[in-house]
Amino acid sequence: MSATAITSVLGRRVWDSRGRPTVEAEIALAGGVSGRAIAPAGASTGSGEAVDLRDGGSAFGGYDVTRAVAAIRDAIAPALRGMDAADQAALDARLIALDGTESKSRLGANATLAVSMAAAHAAAAAAGQPLYRNLGGEAATLLPLPQIQIFGGGAHAGRRVDVQDFLVVCPAAASFAEALDWTAEVYRAAGALMRQAGTLGGVADEGGWWPAFRTNEQALEMLVRAIEQAGFAPGRQVAIALDVAASEFGRGGRYRLGLEERELDTTGMIEFLIGWIRAYPIVSIEDPLAEDDPEGFAAFTRAVGDRVQVVGDDFLVSDAARVRAAAASGGANTVLIKPNQRGTLTETRAAWDAAREVGYAGIVSARSGETEDVTIVHLAVGWGVGQLKVGSFARSERMAKWNEALRIEEALGPRARFAGGTALGRSRR
Ligand code: PGA
Ligand code: ZN
Repeated sequence: MSATAITSVLGRRVWDSRGRPTVEAEIALAGGVSGRAIAPAGASTGSGEAVDLRDGGSAFGGYDVTRAVAAIRDAIAPALRGMDAADQAALDARLIALDGTESKSRLGANATLAVSMAAAHAAAAAAGQPLYRNLGGEAATLLPLPQIQIFGGGAHAGRRVDVQDFLVVCPAAASFAEALDWTAEVYRAAGALMRQAGTLGGVADEGGWWPAFRTNEQALEMLVRAIEQAGFAPGRQVAIALDVAASEFGRGGRYRLGLEERELDTTGMIEFLIGWIRAYPIVSIEDPLAEDDPEGFAAFTRAVGDRVQVVGDDFLVSDAARVRAAAASGGANTVLIKPNQRGTLTETRAAWDAAREVGYAGIVSARSGETEDVTIVHLAVGWGVGQLKVGSFARSERMAKWNEALRIEEALGPRARFAGGTALGRSRR
């Protein structure tokens, strides 16, 4: 038996950052090494995502994962035993065939993803390499531009404000470490401003400050003030990124902004956002329109895509076919890459390959329900994606990822290249 032959696959229930059950997989190889990974979970999920299999019923609010864990024990483990962990494509193809559905609804994408990622970790351990290098070889030297949340909102903050993420990027930072330094100052300044205003109220699901604002725009104003207070030039050094997550409040071409008590049609929503782009140093907008509004996506991208990164999350759900279809109709110019939206690394990687084919940028992203698992950082560097979004600058399920990227940057030494502002997606005219 080869050293990378799988000898056992274990599934176990562990707990995520919201105190909900989630799935961990652990794979042991004949050579004596093993690999482990945990599936994350979203709250504002796209309808085209692979299925996060939950038990339902009353225990833990219906979020228990005993069926997904049982799927690993009863279906996946026997099928994978003896397979080569170093052959990710064959392993993932086996998972896909075993599940047999379009959406991973039989085994659960939480089960298949934990197993798929655990296999990648085991294979890297067998090769004696960090995961990013085992994925990308000597070419894996690009450190991503981090997109870091300062205020949480939307589904992550009881819908206190409509916009889900008010984030910053540091296009002018010289290294990943410096981007974190700058962001730490902005995050602190934002907290101090909230305290002064008497509106500091703890943090939202991803660690961003609780959004005690009367309008969405108040959050944008506060963010610009925080950037200035921290000593940076807004736009040039530290710029704003938004995740509107519009599928949460838009459907059928109608957008209901609860905080502003306004209902807009697609054209109105586009004009509303263009007003923000004119007034604030915004360089990236994710899900500006709802997942069921591809014409809106195309119109918005035509209007601003040459100077603003337009990101598809719920709209593209890390799906290669959707990325190609969006490119054909001119919708978005960047794909958010969330492995659990597809359920295997191979399918997730295919979405990134499709993005490169059509000239889209990419952002590897965590979910709002996270753990200490840092696999996505290795995917970002190993695949050379160029951007990384894992929530805010607080709470260890977030900081674990930022800290892992620091270690990788240090290990690469002078070979490390920081993606900076050049990683931002732009539509070609
Ligand atoms: P989610 O949020 O993990 O709750 O879906 C993250 C995002 O929308 O980018
Ligand atoms: Zn999103």
